[in-house]
Amino acid sequence: MLSYIIEGNNKIEGTVQASGSKNAALPIIATAILNQEPVTFYNIPDIEDTRTTLQILKILGCKVHTDSGKISISSKGMHNKTIPKELMHKLRSTVVLAGAILGRFKEATFSYPGGCNIGKRPIDLHLRAFKDLGVEIEEKEDYIHCRAKKEMIGTKIKLDFPSVGATENIILASVYCKGVTHIINAAKEPEIQDLAKCLNKMGAKVYGAGTSRISICGVKKLHKADYRIMTDRIETGTLLCAAAITNGTIKIENANPENLLSVLFKLKEMGCDILINKNSITLKAPKVLKSVDIETTPYPGFPTDMQPIIGAVLTKAEGTSVIKENIFENRFKYAFDLKKMGANIILKENENIIEIKGKSELNGEIVSSADLRGGAALVLAGLAASGTTKVENAEYILRGYENLEGKLKKLGANIKLEKVV
Ligand code: UD1
Repeated sequence: MLSYIIEGNNKIEGTVQASGSKNAALPIIATAILNQEPVTFYNIPDIEDTRTTLQILKILGCKVHTDSGKISISSKGMHNKTIPKELMHKLRSTVVLAGAILGRFKEATFSYPGGCNIGKRPIDLHLRAFKDLGVEIEEKEDYIHCRAKKEMIGTKIKLDFPSVGATENIILASVYCKGVTHIINAAKEPEIQDLAKCLNKMGAKVYGAGTSRISICGVKKLHKADYRIMTDRIETGTLLCAAAITNGTIKIENANPENLLSVLFKLKEMGCDILINKNSITLKAPKVLKSVDIETTPYPGFPTDMQPIIGAVLTKAEGTSVIKENIFENRFKYAFDLKKMGANIILKENENIIEIKGKSELNGEIVSSADLRGGAALVLAGLAASGTTKVENAEYILRGYENLEGKLKKLGANIKLEKVV
């Protein structure tokens, strides 16, 4: 078991580079399955989730070569169309590999995905969309078998909710469909725009990504390409919040402020001084942070992935803040550990709301990550707490943050990763 050990009360100060985006990397790696020509991706973060995804590609028969952020993949010799259950359970986004396998071979076998336990997270929208494209689905012995007996034909698919994963899966599954696939009520997240840009660079025809209506005109083949993936907006937001919670000042280079406006507006409302340049964001925390109310909504609204992170920061804000989580049912587990550290938080479980009354003095404690972003929230609380904080189950955090320990150390934190056998 891995734990972060943090000696708190150190300001986060300095300049740091944002890493490549976890949520963009995963579907973009899946495009290599669709493309039979060699592809090269740059800026892929070295995190547990990308390692697992690449391991699955190797099992499927792809040749994968990694060289610090540059990843070359050839799927020409790919033969296996089944994603092993054990790896499928390790992370949720393995589900987008299914759309890519299906798009390439017209059949795919996989199981229900795992990932962070932050809510029910069904895949009904994904499966219904596959059916709309002419795929037959049979569930047998823990596996879902998908097969298109005839050609997969583009059609109009209306999503009940703008699901990020379902939108990505439909795009991937439709690249070689006959005719045009229209996604109505598509997710608009920047990671979807990045996926579309990457596919279009390979010769696909994906239009409208970033809007709620995406059209995919089927093509016969994709060609060799390289692609540099976008930077991680949630990692950027987390590092900004690390400075905010410790009264520090931070400059994040290689960032994309455009993708993070809802978070930057809230940090500004909390009293932070924010300077935006084309590729960098500088944040200077005020002496005392102000409380704010937050509601998570799909992009361009406030991202659910930033909810726990800002929740930790708001324990240090003067006044009462209300956070309403609208995307996932079970994303407040971190609040119990923040309370253990001295935060004054009321959980209204039926409404999926927390009320944070600040400002609280936080004390070092032994706490435990229950999921990726909740774990990161506890690390931030540890940076601002007096004494030593131990964040157990750090494995969750390592799934999504590249070298978090190294980056925070460089910024003045006293943090180390400890392995307990
Ligand atoms: C992606 C992100 C995750 C982020 C989330 C919402 C990746 C790898 N992960 O997750 O970090 O928190 O978007 O921005 O990109 N739903 C259904 N049925 C479905 C699919 C989804 O009911 O078939 C529901 C989910 O339970 C959830 C909501 O839709 O309540 C949003 O989920 P979705 O947008 O699909 O999130 P993910 O793609 O899993």
